[in-house]
Amino acid sequence: MNAAVPTDAISLNAPEWVQHAGIKSWVAQIAALTQPDRIEWCDGSQQEYDRLCELMVQAGTLRRLNPAKRPNSYLAWSDPSDVARVEDRTFICTESAEDAGPTNNWMAPAEMRRTLNGLFEGCMRGRTMYVVPFSMGPLGSPIAQIGVELSDSPYVAVNMRLMTRMGRKVYEVLGTDGQFVPCVHSVGKPLAAGQADVPWPCNDIKYIVHYPETREIWSFGSGYGGNALLGKKCLALRIASSMGHEQGWLAEHMLILGVTSPDGRKKHVAAAFPSACGKTNFAMLIPPASLPGWKITTVGDDIAWIKPGKDGRLYAINPEAGYFGVAPGTSEKTNFNCMASLRENVIFTNVALTDDGDVWWEGMGPAPAHCLDWQGKDWTPESGRKAAHPNARFTVAAVQNPAIDAAWDDPAGVPIDAFIFGGRRSNTVPLVTEARDWIEGVYMAATMGSETTAAAAGQQGVVRRDPFAMLPFCGYNMSDYFAHWLKLGRTLEGSGAKLPRIFCVNWFQVDENGKFVWPGFGENMRVLKWMFERLDGKAQGQEHAFGITPRYADLAWNGLDFPQERFERITRVEAALWEQELALHDELFEKLDSRLPAELRAVRQKLAQRLAA
Ligand code: GTP
Ligand code: SPV
Ligand code: MN
Repeated sequence: MNAAVPTDAISLNAPEWVQHAGIKSWVAQIAALTQPDRIEWCDGSQQEYDRLCELMVQAGTLRRLNPAKRPNSYLAWSDPSDVARVEDRTFICTESAEDAGPTNNWMAPAEMRRTLNGLFEGCMRGRTMYVVPFSMGPLGSPIAQIGVELSDSPYVAVNMRLMTRMGRKVYEVLGTDGQFVPCVHSVGKPLAAGQADVPWPCNDIKYIVHYPETREIWSFGSGYGGNALLGKKCLALRIASSMGHEQGWLAEHMLILGVTSPDGRKKHVAAAFPSACGKTNFAMLIPPASLPGWKITTVGDDIAWIKPGKDGRLYAINPEAGYFGVAPGTSEKTNFNCMASLRENVIFTNVALTDDGDVWWEGMGPAPAHCLDWQGKDWTPESGRKAAHPNARFTVAAVQNPAIDAAWDDPAGVPIDAFIFGGRRSNTVPLVTEARDWIEGVYMAATMGSETTAAAAGQQGVVRRDPFAMLPFCGYNMSDYFAHWLKLGRTLEGSGAKLPRIFCVNWFQVDENGKFVWPGFGENMRVLKWMFERLDGKAQGQEHAFGITPRYADLAWNGLDFPQERFERITRVEAALWEQELALHDELFEKLDSRLPAELRAVRQKLAQRLAA
């Protein structure tokens, strides 16, 4: 049954629209190693998408949802062992361990290549290898980066079509010798002759590997999200952050939004919150009716590439073309625009299947009396377990978002007026704080803590340092990354341009019953409005040890009953808690000691003095 190893141009099966000799020989080389039965060159067409989805319906990987309820949409249930990113299996392989830094897993490139060669040998037997060409950023834009992912997962191929600019046009941009980032992906489950497949093949052994110095990505063993859709975290964050470090730009785990005031003035904000901490939500925010005239538009919901423009300002693009967003907690009340984006043409993963062939998840609305949970088991509200996996997600093209910004795929990007950093903290960190200057802002971002979420495998709800929300995504030494941010600030300041202001937020303080104190979601507009007015030099605030925070009277409260006493509870800086917090900053700085910029230590000293005063 096994086809011959495709080493010649004929079994390579390359279509005439692929004229790139380098890609063809690389595909042949990977095919010789992994030994797939067939090679399929994806063209990115709707017909191809429909055909691959139908193939997966036949294989039991996808279920077609009720077309009357959710047209052109599918549901996938993954293997229960393959539900999130695997941070402890993610590696940055630089020649020197110090260049990957103490926050990344490291292995020498040569040693890793030996390990992976062993794992990838014959790993695609019995399967089709899809050649998936994609562009991160608008096709042909000087800012864009092209990748080609070789994957034995048709689920990856169809998700990549929603998440990136994928298909034939990429080869037109590449021509005969254009540059691309080679990405090799296998679920790691070869099939023997005649062996039946499983609905979600994967392997207990997992490796998510990056070689930033040669710009290559290799991923083995997982078919889920950021582990497998290699344009996203692997290319657009880990590899791109390393490119940006070399070339003077930034690749960040940030949403990008436009905010327009009632008098028609528009500013742009980029915000870094760790995984499952509210980026998609904030990027699609609908202001409360009691704040008429304010409008939010979405440029991106997860990743920003930010470059200095000729005018000395920073310009941001969203390199993605779709959203791979958290389903649980999303409802018409919390994120109406998101629900509107999900009406059709969606791939859902690990949500529950209702009896009428639609989807459901915790927080979407009233629970159905019965459904099948994400593992296909009968579920009722009395089951005592979750119907959707906490990291259940949807994949949808960005253009389906009714609040999409007119400039969302403008290759020039949008000018950034403010950066926001925010973690998930049940105490300690105030609702909002403005940094007094760039360096203090970099310190805030560098020392940010957040409770871990279901977006990554491992323990949930433990506070860890997640600098810039980039802990799992920085492709080089974290201290060098801080220095890169500080240097960028100096360069921009030197050019005479106005630097973006830096703010730090926390929507997630809880009361003694464990309930969120701040209403969040659309009400976050009140905080964003304060920031907007701070940028205009209008709104007031109060200085404390950590920065500047609004007093009760500085926010708009019309239409919301939020007593002053509750506001003070989530905006005060408690000396005892902050002493513990500073000890955690020290722990991080100790870990990063060898290359840590001196400026950050100086901020730490000032902060301690202010707290003591
Ligand atoms: P990634 O895609 O993992 O990078 O996550 P994200 O940062 O885009 O997170 P997302 O917006 O999808 O939100 C994750 C969870 O946080 C969802 O369950 C949301 O309902 C919830 N959430 C978002 N914003 C708020 C908020 O303002 N307050 C509260 N309490 N929860 C929120
Ligand atoms: C995240 O975990 O930050 C995500 C989802 O955006 S994944 O693509 O799986 O990394
Ligand atoms: Mn993310």
